[in-house]
Amino acid sequence: LRPVLAQAFCELCGGSAMDALPFAAAVEMVHTYSLIHDDLPAMDDDDLRRGRPSCHKAFDEATAILAGDALLTDAFGFMASTVKDLPAGRVLEALASVSSAAGSAGMVGGQILDMDCTGKTDVPLETLQTLHALKTGAMFRVACVSGGLLAGASESDIASLRAYGEALGVTFQIVDDIPADTATLGKPAGSDAEMGKTTYPSLMGLNRSRELAQEFAEKAVDSLSAFSGQDAAFLKGLALMLVTRNK
Ligand code: IPE
Ligand code: MG
Ligand code: MG
Repeated sequence: LRPVLAQAFCELCGGSAMDALPFAAAVEMVHTYSLIHDDLPAMDDDDLRRGRPSCHKAFDEATAILAGDALLTDAFGFMASTVKDLPAGRVLEALASVSSAAGSAGMVGGQILDMDCTGKTDVPLETLQTLHALKTGAMFRVACVSGGLLAGASESDIASLRAYGEALGVTFQIVDDIPADTATLGKPAGSDAEMGKTTYPSLMGLNRSRELAQEFAEKAVDSLSAFSGQDAAFLKGLALMLVTRNK
């Protein structure tokens, strides 16, 4: 999902999907590293990922830690390599945006907040929203924004991409937290409740969570109102499709 966002937004803003390919791969590498580390015993301690043993189960903890380290480091090399084909200014701006989305002010900061909140029963909605915006939203947002930056999009277009990515991140996270069975999830069912994680469903129930997912998907669609054509239609449809996804 994140790579296709980077590529589609690069095209939407006048670049080519191929221009954004190394960034698309890099964003997915950062995401995959975050999942490998997230499943470790010191974090969520999950044995299944995408229907298969998580990295530390298939191999061992040291390998999982190092696989994450390698994916993160190599991601930055991939992004830097685009400087041979694209203007250096654009590459650097996009690279810096991935760094800030992935790091302490973004995904890692969100994971810290998630760990802090785990096991607490009185997490307010506002904290949950900040946690989601950092843990999930930041990488979704930068998948979209980096595509635009590589294409040399205007500041106002970048603002629209940012709004789309943020709303999409919230939609994704709400749907992700709606309980399903293990076969559908590809990861252990009921593990959020067991770990004492606050989620939209645990705070406001399933029906309101589904409604909110739909509202945020529509917000994502609205943020692209200035764009038309095939790529815009694809991206709008993608946001709405996320509401009913079950994988
Ligand atoms: C996964 O978060 C890692 C990041 C978003 C950085 P979660 O712990 O909420 O997701 P799952 O349930 O393991 O996929
Ligand atoms: Mg987690
Ligand atoms: Mg987890």
